[in-house]
Amino acid sequence: MENVLEIEGLCKHYPEFSLKDVSFALPKGYIMGFVGQNGAGKTTTIRTILNMAHMDSGSVKIFGLDSVKDDVKIKQDIGVVYDDLYFASHLNAKQIESQIKGFYANWDSRQYYTYLEKFNLPKNKKVGSFSKGMKMKFMLATALSHNAKVLILDEPTSGLDPVARDELLDILAEYIQDEERSILFSTHITADLERIADYITILHDGKVFYSGTKDELMEKYVVIKGANENLTKDLQEKTIGSHMYRNGFEAMLAKEYINELTPDIDYEKASIDDILVYIAKEAAHEKRN
Ligand SMILES: Nc1ncnc2c1ncn2[C@@H]1O[C@H](COP(=O)(O)OP(=O)(O)O)[C@@H](O)[C@H]1O
Ligand SMILES: [Mg+2]
Repeated sequence: MENVLEIEGLCKHYPEFSLKDVSFALPKGYIMGFVGQNGAGKTTTIRTILNMAHMDSGSVKIFGLDSVKDDVKIKQDIGVVYDDLYFASHLNAKQIESQIKGFYANWDSRQYYTYLEKFNLPKNKKVGSFSKGMKMKFMLATALSHNAKVLILDEPTSGLDPVARDELLDILAEYIQDEERSILFSTHITADLERIADYITILHDGKVFYSGTKDELMEKYVVIKGANENLTKDLQEKTIGSHMYRNGFEAMLAKEYINELTPDIDYEKASIDDILVYIAKEAAHEKRN
């Protein structure tokens, strides 16, 4: 399988945070959700991929090209959307087009105006006066109008109402139709992933906890529940984020261990939300000890 994006051993240090040996790959033709709680390092990873932040070590390849050396060439084929408007807010869509079209060899003006129309975005109104959903759609219109082969979106759905979110996910699903295009998008809204992601990378505290297909992830963990006396030391060591309450314990467990459970322990499949919650609980627990 061909990868459009390959991140290998990426390290980046800030005084109070580090990306630690981050590696994952996005296969061509697919959508990867990039998840993790606030502060996990998603934006830092994306900024590094886009050569907007310097990496201390590691490598990023996009279309097989080096993200630093071939930066200018690569940018032609990437569409980017952030969670905040990155265009001058006092300009309208027409004026912004005239600023950016010179940058892209494949800028498609007709496509751009088709998207503005489709997204109900006025051409003559300052983009700064747009609602959050409109701003998002506007950035998407620019990202989709130069025939980008990969879209990289940082929390595109955060702050959108359910209707706007639904529309955005439809647009992404449509964009990916031709199997030549790929999407990496970060989010902490796991419902987005359940709907459209083929692959998932979970980042926790600057480290990759999981990267692989969504289907495999959904089969990997269970949430277990039982009376406190059933949580033996041996079992507790295998669990992730175990917690004792007055009326019993809850924890996450890799599925490979379920045949070790006694019959009085219940288990059910862990959702992506469960997985994120239990990873965070485990980390909080480790910090305390
Ligand atoms: N330019 C910077 N200088 C110092 N620390 C930073 C900088 N950018 C981000 N950080 C820190 O890196 C951590 C990860 O942030 P970020 O990548 O934005 O996480 P996420 O997007 O997953 O919420 C945060 O603790 C943040 O304070
Ligand atoms: Mg972020």
